[in-house]
Amino acid sequence: MKVLLVGSGGREHALAWALSASPLLTKLYCAPGNAGIAQVAECMPIPAMDFPALVAFAREKKIDFAVIGMDAPLIGGLWDAFEAAGIRATGPSKTAAVLEGSKGFVKDLCAEYGIPTAAYRRFAEPKAAKAFADTLGLPVVIKADGPALGKGVVVADTRADARKAIDFVFDGGFGEGAPQVVVEEFMAGEEGSFFALSDGTHVIPLAGAQDHKQVFDGDKGPNTGGMGAYSPAPVLTPAMEAVAMETFIKPTVAAMRARGRTYAGAMYLGLIFTAQGPKLVEYNCRFGDPETQVLMPRLKSDLLTVLLAMRDGILNEVDLRWSDEVALTVVMASGGYPGAYTKGHVIHGLGAAAKLPGVQIFHAGTERRGGDYVTAGGRVLNVTATGKTVAEAQARAYAAVDLIHWEGSFARRDIGWRALART
Ligand code: GLY
Repeated sequence: MKVLLVGSGGREHALAWALSASPLLTKLYCAPGNAGIAQVAECMPIPAMDFPALVAFAREKKIDFAVIGMDAPLIGGLWDAFEAAGIRATGPSKTAAVLEGSKGFVKDLCAEYGIPTAAYRRFAEPKAAKAFADTLGLPVVIKADGPALGKGVVVADTRADARKAIDFVFDGGFGEGAPQVVVEEFMAGEEGSFFALSDGTHVIPLAGAQDHKQVFDGDKGPNTGGMGAYSPAPVLTPAMEAVAMETFIKPTVAAMRARGRTYAGAMYLGLIFTAQGPKLVEYNCRFGDPETQVLMPRLKSDLLTVLLAMRDGILNEVDLRWSDEVALTVVMASGGYPGAYTKGHVIHGLGAAAKLPGVQIFHAGTERRGGDYVTAGGRVLNVTATGKTVAEAQARAYAAVDLIHWEGSFARRDIGWRALART
């Protein structure tokens, strides 16, 4: 089977690594990919948002199945483009990807179906939004919403910051489109990510994980795309995973079907464990990054078989198997990230680090220059390790991190701290 994977980050390297082990696979392409993905796939320099070029390439190479890793192409309708050309692909469809693309849609769905989340209202103009924000306690959360948005969250600590954030949204600060703003109460608690697969009718759980969004140790500093993760996450106990399925995932899939937006694809459920119980933070319509980098090393079943079953509506026939081990990944980033950083620095020590026991290195932002790997992004590497415990996986991952360096490289030193604090 010929497979085309779409994406270029650490998540896609982890997916490519798992797909490349499939007995069903005859050839793996990735567009556009990165230098690490090129170890297991043939990378094509086609941008993930160039739908006509991706479809033309898939037709030319007689691709049997396309796996779409990233959110933007899914929200933009790449699944629809592949399927219209007769190429089977992992969804969701454009109409269902609204689950990530519109925070307002999700909030309205939660209200209608009784899915627990923060109190909120959504507005199409700033005056009423500011008036409602004034009625909530501080901090207050301001989210951009609208076509092609779905990103952009500000946690405002003062009334002035809340007003500024609302103006920023309506001035188009988070992107194009006719903006709306969701104003919601701040939820305090520990967060966790839970993953499931839906074929539109059947839903199966994957696993839980915990991301570390802030750039510095102790969860300090600005938010990033994620500085590390581990799975399983003790905060998602088996009982809590059952709640995630019964209270969140299954009602959402049923609600999407009822709204004519049948959801078939990976589901990323962002939860917060508040004093009043778990509440929805957000849904994403794809696998998490860097969570995928800790899910794939634990998945013992054949990923390609599972994703095909999801596409073909037979997830009920899938029996997933997982390793009992913990996986933990540490993001190594470019100096200055998530702000400005430089690229093109030669990465040293990759070979020695990859030989350590239980270590798997997924590339996020790398390129090949001659015989060297060089940096090409803010998040550069996901240094992943498995172990019998979080402590063992963490020790193995940091032993590998300590062998790798480039000019300005840095990593958080405390990935997994919440799990270790419980032991
Ligand atoms: N881990 C955050 C994300 O994938 O959006």
